[in-house]
Amino acid sequence: MSFDFKNLRPDSNSDSKDHEFTQAVIKGLSEERKRLPSWLIFDDRGSEIFEEIVGLKNYHPAVCEFEIFHTHKQTIAELIFDEALQIIDLGSGDARKTRVLLEHLVENELQIHYIPIDISAGAVKNLVTLLESKFGNTSLAVTGIASEYFQGLEAVPREQFKRNFVFFLGSTIGNQDYPAAGKFLRRLWESLNDGDYVMIGFDLMKNPKLLYRAYNDPEGVFQKFNLHLLDRINQELGANFIKSNYVQEGHYNEQSHAVESHVYSTEDQTVKMPALGKEFHFKAWEGMQTEHSYKYTMPEIEALAQNNGFEIVEHLFDSKKFFVDSIWKVKK
Ligand SMILES: C[S@@+](CC[C@H](N)C(=O)[O-])C[C@H]1O[C@@H](n2cnc3c(N)ncnc32)[C@H](O)[C@@H]1O
Repeated sequence: MSFDFKNLRPDSNSDSKDHEFTQAVIKGLSEERKRLPSWLIFDDRGSEIFEEIVGLKNYHPAVCEFEIFHTHKQTIAELIFDEALQIIDLGSGDARKTRVLLEHLVENELQIHYIPIDISAGAVKNLVTLLESKFGNTSLAVTGIASEYFQGLEAVPREQFKRNFVFFLGSTIGNQDYPAAGKFLRRLWESLNDGDYVMIGFDLMKNPKLLYRAYNDPEGVFQKFNLHLLDRINQELGANFIKSNYVQEGHYNEQSHAVESHVYSTEDQTVKMPALGKEFHFKAWEGMQTEHSYKYTMPEIEALAQNNGFEIVEHLFDSKKFFVDSIWKVKK
């Protein structure tokens, strides 16, 4: 079977390179309450640090989703076993959870075309190499695509006789607020065919103490993840953030229904971006929001499916009901 890798990311000399990144940083730093969207953290290094987060014992979204994949892999296999299928994994990262399922599907000799899509070219490339070494002589074919979600979806081979099954795992949907998640799902629905499936991983609302523990690990991986954004801004925009002058903390905000990570400036300081002619002042202990992870209730999830053209097929929970992978069918 074939194992291919396509890189659709702009190269580092391209003019269009991360114009969106620049706009988002300038806009976020200019607001009265500084705030940067979560997606800015993800480049190759950001995606690598996220893989460390997935290994943290108190990071329940990953612990619970692993359990769901181990417990319910046969349920998913039965749903798809008589169909020629391509599994499209949006924001795959290292696909640690999806690999549990792939192994099971391959053991059952199902013909699967697996298509991981991620903005981190390094993550996709490593994943394709890993899958080839593990599944080289099996019924699995792989096409890894390094790109933004929808650009990648457009590049997926449209085989009329194959159903698409789109995975959007890891509570990545929670990096947007509720209305933005609805818009994202509507756009996803538009790019799929009637009868295609999606499986979305939602982190459910729970005791805020547990949420606090999940996003404030003693090992400091969450701090490293959030402060990586300062490195990215230095690298991409020639800024002079001094990382050691900032600390991170995350907490649940009941107004936004999200765990929000903040990076706090430990002293009065000015960050300069000479190439853009910009500078931004931070007062001592001023916070800047860098991450947003929305926590869902089941009625909100059901409304998201129904309002955006999907029929709910099944909810797969972990034993504590902390997390749900919700499977929906596209209705057109
Ligand atoms: C929260 S992680 C989830 C990773 C993996 N699916 C999991 O469940 O562990 C989000 C992933 O989405 C990728 N990503 C973020 N923004 C993206 C975008 N706009 N287009 C494509 N991939 C993106 C990141 O590089 C990262 O690997």
